Amino acid sequence: MTITNNGAVSETSGAGTFTVEGDIGILTIDYPPVNALSQATRQGIVSGMQAAAANPDVKAVVLICAGRTFLAGADITEFGKPPKAPSLREAQDLIENSSKPVIAAIHGTALGGGLEVAMCCHYRVGVESAKCGLPEVLIGVLPGAGGTQRLPRLVGVEKGLDMIVNGTHVPAKECLAMGLLDALVPEGELRSSAIAFAKKVLAENRPLRKVRDLDDKIAAVRGKPEIFAAVRKANAKKFRGLPAPEACIQCVEAAVNGSFEDGLATERRLFQQLVTGTESIAQRYAFFAQREAAKIPGIPADTPLVDVKKVGIIGAGTMGGGIAMNFANVGIPVILVETAQAALDRGLGVIRKNYENSAKKGRFTQEEVEKRMALLTGTLEMEQLADCDLVIEAVFENMAVKKEIFGKLDRIVKPGAVLATNTSALDVNEIASAATSRPEAVVGMHFFSPANVMKLLEVVRGAKTSDTALATAMHIGKKIGKVAAISGVCPGFIGNRILSARGAQAHAMLMEGAMPWDIDQVLYDFGMPMGPYAMSDLAGLDLGWSKDKSKSSTIREVLCEMDRRGQKTGAGYYDYDENRNARPSEVTKKVILDFMAKEGRTPREIGKDEILERCIYAMVNEGAKILEEGIALRASDIDVVWLNGYGWPVYRGGPMFYADTVGLDNVVAKLKEYGPRMGANFKISPLLEKMAADGKKFVRT
Ligand code: 3HC
Repeated sequence: MTITNNGAVSETSGAGTFTVEGDIGILTIDYPPVNALSQATRQGIVSGMQAAAANPDVKAVVLICAGRTFLAGADITEFGKPPKAPSLREAQDLIENSSKPVIAAIHGTALGGGLEVAMCCHYRVGVESAKCGLPEVLIGVLPGAGGTQRLPRLVGVEKGLDMIVNGTHVPAKECLAMGLLDALVPEGELRSSAIAFAKKVLAENRPLRKVRDLDDKIAAVRGKPEIFAAVRKANAKKFRGLPAPEACIQCVEAAVNGSFEDGLATERRLFQQLVTGTESIAQRYAFFAQREAAKIPGIPADTPLVDVKKVGIIGAGTMGGGIAMNFANVGIPVILVETAQAALDRGLGVIRKNYENSAKKGRFTQEEVEKRMALLTGTLEMEQLADCDLVIEAVFENMAVKKEIFGKLDRIVKPGAVLATNTSALDVNEIASAATSRPEAVVGMHFFSPANVMKLLEVVRGAKTSDTALATAMHIGKKIGKVAAISGVCPGFIGNRILSARGAQAHAMLMEGAMPWDIDQVLYDFGMPMGPYAMSDLAGLDLGWSKDKSKSSTIREVLCEMDRRGQKTGAGYYDYDENRNARPSEVTKKVILDFMAKEGRTPREIGKDEILERCIYAMVNEGAKILEEGIALRASDIDVVWLNGYGWPVYRGGPMFYADTVGLDNVVAKLKEYGPRMGANFKISPLLEKMAADGKKFVRT
């Protein structure tokens, strides 16, 4: 025990410090970086609550956190390890059963177990920038510390269920409206405001309200199973392959239909089932892989960054416009450059329409639309980019054009700025060195379409890219809400290079007798949002196709020549009805069979296992080559790319994680078994073979 400057009594245990100020006990948790509920944090809460109970001077308690956030949840690194006392339940019970009112003071994020602790407090106050959520579902588990039982009691079943199955972080204002918070307090005055709130509770003799005892909101939906059926139906596609959302729903059903204790028992049982499942292990791995991807080995944490206050974007097409929206969304002004007024007007028009659609859906107000549009300026003069801190070129893929643009940028843009290209395939080194006198300032920033929606950003590190340019691209990527991963320079970088390897196998199987819909179905059933042929139809088969140069030399060329250019023409690999529903096409089948006949091939039946293994293991093999060439820094970065840019199912962790679950020796054995069918150019990666022989894995979990 220590006496602090102001005479207050202070006691520290674990990550908690308990201080007494007048008749209020203040329990401060300080466990950087996010005050996760590790053993030290739980110990801090238990000791603090015991100290509060034992001290007759203390009449009420404020639970508050130091650093950037309130308790951000259970310590995920402790999952799957033997439990260490005290348990979270013990800490929660001490709070909930305290004979002195406990007030949670929330800033940053109260997430998962953190919000579950806050819901054991008798009252909750928060600053306006705070957010609350139960995001456990995103790591493949469910709120396992009473969240599924307390949240619906507090905010109602529909709102509670929505938060639990989607894992959303809800802003404080909304939390107040739904009853999750009892008061909003001024920013920067959380501590004093929470103390004042506690004094008010005492003065008004307010009750020791226990959320577990509330019943009116859950009673309101008792006998209405259609509420749960509606959630299941509305989210069927989103929840495909994921066991956690269904378990969450079952827990809330238990909350509605049984006692609090029975509900807790259901919650505990289902939590235990989920936490040991491969799906949750994969999702937890993905959580940490994503954070790992942000770290750049060899570049010190204090590397100076360019302060990006103004961004220039060249090209106001679909890509450039989408990229611009990312910056306007976070309040950074953007100058969009085009070569013709009509293209500029069209680009800005599309952006406005996108924003207005979001406003119509209630994502933000019309005022927000105008605020964001006001940050976007269009111009036909590249000279306007002179004082930009970051310029991103987003024109079509043509090396000569890109070089010309970078040559101009080199002359126009102020020294110290970062010059980025959004190329998805071209050689960043050539752009940097052949066209500019400052290759160190050049970096690839490869966004994925639609760029305002897709999470992934491949940051391409050229041979001469400086630490500052690289770190700035990574930093700004995070700021605009992207998941950034570093790739070295090679055709297609990490993501598209692996996509090509899969495409080559799919095509090879097409020429052996599998139909596009057979291949697509297998990949869809594996968990991908769609297979390569449905994807081609969506993107348009005529991407990069030219009528004049077309020689009927590939299936795609023939389909384009027949005006089967994808969904937009009502036919591609598939036939489409007026609602764009796809069905297998006899025309496409004949085109494929004709090609095979021309090459003297006889179609054979190809099993689903072979389709899956050849597609996926070819990806793994390419991933291994990308690793051995040093294009990716780590195997987990490859997974991050595929999870965030290509819809790889998160419950399968990414191609490299998945390969580990299959066993690398099994992967290699299958690749050898398929042997020549994999194609003349196919070679097993020496790294993959060696790791398989050594019994190693690509990733750590
Ligand atoms: N457990 C362990 N480590 C965690 C953690 C957690 N719950 N949350 C974050 N971290 C670590 C991160 O891995 C990262 O470590 P690093 O610096 O070594 O890479 C560090 O904390 C900082 O995290 P971020 O980079 O994500 O920091 P941000 O400021 O961008 O975001 C955050 C902060 C919003 C709190 C974000 O970290 C987050 O969403 N965390 C997970 C929250 C969560 O899922 N909570 C529920 C946990 S499960 C649970 O509570 C079960 C219960 O119901 C029983």
